[in-house]
Amino acid sequence: MTKTVQDEKGSIATTKGELPGELRYMQYQHSLEPKYLPAIRALISKDLSEPYSIYVYRYFLYQWGHLCYMALNPIDDSLIGVVICKLERHSSHSTPTLRGYIAMLAVSSSYRGHGVATTLVKMAIDAMAERNADEIVLETEETNTPAMRLYERLGFIRSKKLHRYYLNGNSAYRLVLLLRPVAIDSPTSPAPDGEEDPALK
Ligand SMILES: CC(C)(COP(=O)(O)OP(=O)(O)OC[C@H]1O[C@@H](n2cnc3c(N)ncnc32)[C@H](O)[C@@H]1OP(=O)(O)O)[C@@H](O)C(=O)NCCC(=O)NCCS
Repeated sequence: MTKTVQDEKGSIATTKGELPGELRYMQYQHSLEPKYLPAIRALISKDLSEPYSIYVYRYFLYQWGHLCYMALNPIDDSLIGVVICKLERHSSHSTPTLRGYIAMLAVSSSYRGHGVATTLVKMAIDAMAERNADEIVLETEETNTPAMRLYERLGFIRSKKLHRYYLNGNSAYRLVLLLRPVAIDSPTSPAPDGEEDPALK
């Protein structure tokens, strides 16, 4: 999943600007592609060391646009934050589960630290829970303190360390939020190695 750019001291830069009023949160719709897909790509690519192709975005948005939420500036409707997810049957457990996956999350650097990502992730969790997800998983870089704090505050737990997961050599954690009891074969290991989302590898 998403990799982040760090400064020379190794910490993730966050800038706290005032929010331009109460943000508008909305579900992505296909009719909005011309208006928002370029902005979504630009926002997410900014923090990626290896940007995803347009096909990766379309893979998620064509099938699970209803699991994508955007935070918009109330003044000009410009994009401030976005979360992109998918929900699929997953069969590595003895009993197959309906697994949600948070694929991408980003908030404009000027508006970080105001809970925008928390609101977006909560909306995505609620949407996946409404569709009977058993669990929600994601990967995040181990040094990404804002993301780790956000997800752990929302109840995600570390299920696995993925050594040298990213092309830049950095490791990741797989985080999981169990929405209902899942019959897991081995202790808190929702997927064997090599089962990460192929669209993002
Ligand atoms: C991660 C990200 C989406 C968070 O967005 P946000 O709107 O600022 O998030 P929130 O305000 O909802 O919460 C961020 C949490 O991180 C904390 N935080 C922010 N910057 C931090 C820092 N430099 N060090 C430690 N904690 C930090 C905040 O205090 C908050 O935690 P708290 O509520 O427990 O205090 C944003 O930083 C981002 O877009 N980063 C680049 C892309 C990325 O890393 N995506 C996630 C990949 S999994």
